[in-house]
Amino acid sequence: MVPPLDGRLVARRAKRGRRGCGTGHIFSNTPVTVGAFPTTVSASCQKNRPLWTVPAALPSALSEGRSNRETFMGIAVVTGSAGLIGSEAVSFFADKGLDVVGIDNDMRGYFFGPKASTAWNRDRLLRQVPGYRHHDIDIRDREAVHRLFAALGRDIAVVIHCAAQPSHDWAAREPATDFSINAMGTEILLEAVRDCCPEAPFIFTSTNKVYGDTPNRLPLEERETRFEVAPGHPYAARGIDETMSIDGSLHSVFGASKVAADVMVQEYGRYFGLKTACFRGGCLTGPNHSGAPLHGFLAYLMRCAITGEPYTVLGYRGKQVRDNIHANDLVAMFGSFS
Ligand SMILES: NC(=O)c1ccc[n+]([C@@H]2O[C@H](COP(=O)([O-])OP(=O)(O)OC[C@H]3O[C@@H](n4cnc5c(N)ncnc54)[C@H](O)[C@@H]3O)[C@@H](O)[C@H]2O)c1
Repeated sequence: MVPPLDGRLVARRAKRGRRGCGTGHIFSNTPVTVGAFPTTVSASCQKNRPLWTVPAALPSALSEGRSNRETFMGIAVVTGSAGLIGSEAVSFFADKGLDVVGIDNDMRGYFFGPKASTAWNRDRLLRQVPGYRHHDIDIRDREAVHRLFAALGRDIAVVIHCAAQPSHDWAAREPATDFSINAMGTEILLEAVRDCCPEAPFIFTSTNKVYGDTPNRLPLEERETRFEVAPGHPYAARGIDETMSIDGSLHSVFGASKVAADVMVQEYGRYFGLKTACFRGGCLTGPNHSGAPLHGFLAYLMRCAITGEPYTVLGYRGKQVRDNIHANDLVAMFGSFS
């Protein structure tokens, strides 16, 4: 059963100040270093536009940093709401005055074991975020997802899709589970948006792994502590953008399921006219990560430092440099897009 809505939730943001879709990048200064994968972060969207068309100052009320509940009534639906990025999005959009409905079934505990469970973070949000409502729904449950979206309907002001199986290694263990969550789950959500709230921006946390191992073909120079793209190369100064092909590379099973979702999100923008965006994150971090050896290395490293567990650095002579971006900075960009 979907709980009834508070009366104050029902009015949709009156004036959205929406632009169309944009393409933007957050550039990290690290090129390719880690195994087969780049560390840059980029965002893409359904329209082919020049870079940085997500302007610094958007007409969106959210981007103006006001936090007035009268002005911003409406609902933010966040999937994967107990995870690193999802929980940051819950706090961010609640702070901007939206009422937040979260979807998370704690599958991270299934992927990586009880220590990686996100139940603690779900409980924290329920305690700390006023009005936060949580649904223990599996995003692969088409009927349950549709029922929830239908109940919330056009009061949904924005959808932030963060629920995922996030690990390369785990995906290889259960490719069908990985694909059903990352690819099919995304399609189920897109369809629910198309049916129930087609005006709501749909923000997808994609990944730079969509480029597979293509970044390893860049001219890399080995430095004392890391690899760098050779100076003068078009990607050297500002990182990798969407001009890099996603074809003809080794993606990993996880990379492939994310490519499927990424392309589908773009297609629901281009083909059906939804307001969709893919943010191709690299390495995100923050205090709400339930770190595990296979995912969330910085949180896991901190856990090891505190508990005294040994931390193993794998491969590449310790030069697997990753530039980490705080999840809060990423969700601030979601706010600008929405
Ligand atoms: N963390 C990073 O460094 C990073 C980098 C690039 C891209 N991303 C992408 O961002 C997204 C979120 O990453 P994160 O680090 O917050 O991951 P996370 O594992 O911390 O959070 C994901 C949440 O989704 C939930 N979930 C998984 N399957 C579900 C299902 N079937 N139904 C409902 N809930 C489910 C999990 O329980 C978890 O709480 C992922 O799509 C990931 O690929 C993350």
